[in-house]
Amino acid sequence: MKAAPSLLSCDFSKMGEETVRIDKAGADFVHLDVMDGHFVPNITIGPAIISSLRKYTKLPFDVHLMIEHPLDYIDAFADAGADIITFHIESDSDAEKTIDKILSRGIKAGLVIKPATPAEAVFPYLDKLYMVLVMTVEPGFGGQSFMADMLPKVSAIKAECLKRGLDVLVEVDGGVSEKNAGLCADAGVDICVSGSTVFKSADMAKTIAELKVNS
Ligand code: DX5
Ligand code: ZN
Repeated sequence: MKAAPSLLSCDFSKMGEETVRIDKAGADFVHLDVMDGHFVPNITIGPAIISSLRKYTKLPFDVHLMIEHPLDYIDAFADAGADIITFHIESDSDAEKTIDKILSRGIKAGLVIKPATPAEAVFPYLDKLYMVLVMTVEPGFGGQSFMADMLPKVSAIKAECLKRGLDVLVEVDGGVSEKNAGLCADAGVDICVSGSTVFKSADMAKTIAELKVNS
């Protein structure tokens, strides 16, 4: 399992240095949480910050859009240097059109499902996706408790992909720590996002290594 530390829990006054820190500590991706205060009740960062971070690492930028109208902002995040853009199926934008827009920019596309959304909601789109992100907390804030009852959705998505001969990665996000990383890997998770656990750690490299179960 690969690790995608989320900068949501970093020191926002030093985001460049924090990006370098997770890179040196063994991160596989940089997870960037974009919140608009509408789709979720919190406001975080936008394309200008992401663009300013691009020079600090060559790691892929995994941009998680928690915004109401993702289709309207794909160009802005593509220009900012996103490598993967994931957006919520519960957002207002048409999923097919938004995926096609992301792909037209040469970027990998991912769909995200909130805890109340079933795994089957992403099945019609799997053939165009690089990744499905299964939320293991309600989106909006770092530091919440991991919802282990979301893991059957991971297994259902992996099983559907296997049945159809598709190679789609499954990522989980929210409350992931070294304590539940094994459970995630056993369920078939390919990439885990981790914010507060990574940034609170006294030994970031050790924590990231512990998250990377079987890799
Ligand atoms: C929550 C965000 C997560 C968050 C995870 O809405 O999507 O990426 O940063 O943080 P932790 O690992 O603290 O739950
Ligand atoms: Zn996220």
